[in-house]
Amino acid sequence: MKSTIQKAHESFTAKLNRITSIEDLEALRIEFTGRSGIITQLMRQLGSFSLEEKRMYGPLLNDLKTTIGRQLLDKEVAFKTIDEQQRYKELRSFDVTLYRTTHFKGSLHPLTHVTTELEDIFITMGYTIMDGSEVETDFYNFEALNIPKNHPARDMQDTFWLNVPGLLLRTQTSNVQIHAMEQQKPPLAIFAPGRVFRNEATDATHECMFMQGECLFVDKEVSVGNLLATAQHFLQAFFNKDDLKIRVRPGYFPFVEPGLEIDAACPFCIKGCSICKYTGWIELLGAGLVHPHVLKAGGIDPAIYSGFAFGFGIDRLAMIKYSINDNRLFRSTRPAFLDQF
Ligand code: DAH
Repeated sequence: MKSTIQKAHESFTAKLNRITSIEDLEALRIEFTGRSGIITQLMRQLGSFSLEEKRMYGPLLNDLKTTIGRQLLDKEVAFKTIDEQQRYKELRSFDVTLYRTTHFKGSLHPLTHVTTELEDIFITMGYTIMDGSEVETDFYNFEALNIPKNHPARDMQDTFWLNVPGLLLRTQTSNVQIHAMEQQKPPLAIFAPGRVFRNEATDATHECMFMQGECLFVDKEVSVGNLLATAQHFLQAFFNKDDLKIRVRPGYFPFVEPGLEIDAACPFCIKGCSICKYTGWIELLGAGLVHPHVLKAGGIDPAIYSGFAFGFGIDRLAMIKYSINDNRLFRSTRPAFLDQF
């Protein structure tokens, strides 16, 4: 019996040393100390032994049971410690910078993108970017731009009037011209992008709110030549086409004299396409030399200074550049549309 007990312990220790998981440890516990385990079986055998033998082997068996119990416990503690150390290591090595937001990636709105691009072009030419207010007075939006009350040109732009008399939502970014002349002394060169509002029905090419860009240059002896060179350079930069041609037609705008309409050769085709409506030209800018009345309204002496100005639709430029066929898409908040940019 004594050697059986010894062998049982040796076999237990050998098995214990080979164990690599807590599950195997549990299996070993059952094998030796379970209800039909090796120790239990030896205890049962001891029951049939004589009193003297019981006295001799009983304590040995009890010792074996205690020793095995302690060895099992030691091993369990060792496993748990390793496990905890491992978990601690994993927690410690968690790199927060590895986190990536894959689902909510944003992008610039196409109009923001185009506006930034336009600003960059004008800044490169030495212009200052200027903001204007969307709520404006009759004076800055009309009167000072040589559009007095009852002037038929007021009908060209249907206006949203506010409840406060004389206040309106600006119909054009040309209002910034007057603020610029009041605030700065010539030579002045400003570019003012921004939202404008018109009380009219909406369709694929008309919106009651859209974006315009306004360019104003005032100095001594400014000519139509300066205007055309600037307009052409700006359009070439915007459409990324060094040899882009422009053409000029007479146009009427109360705040310029002479007034011009500037078209660009269609940047997309040679013989005509749907963008230029098969004419080879696209109308882009309203322009002209600043009317002496406007210079005067801005506090600048037209006997000394002259200037040029032009304005255009930013929505329209974006539509042409990205082949967008309906301006309502810009404010549709449709992810399928916006995701393309
Ligand atoms: N403000 C005009 C419009 O909204 C556009 C325009 C035309 C601006 C001629 C100008 C200009 O500066 O010289 O239709």
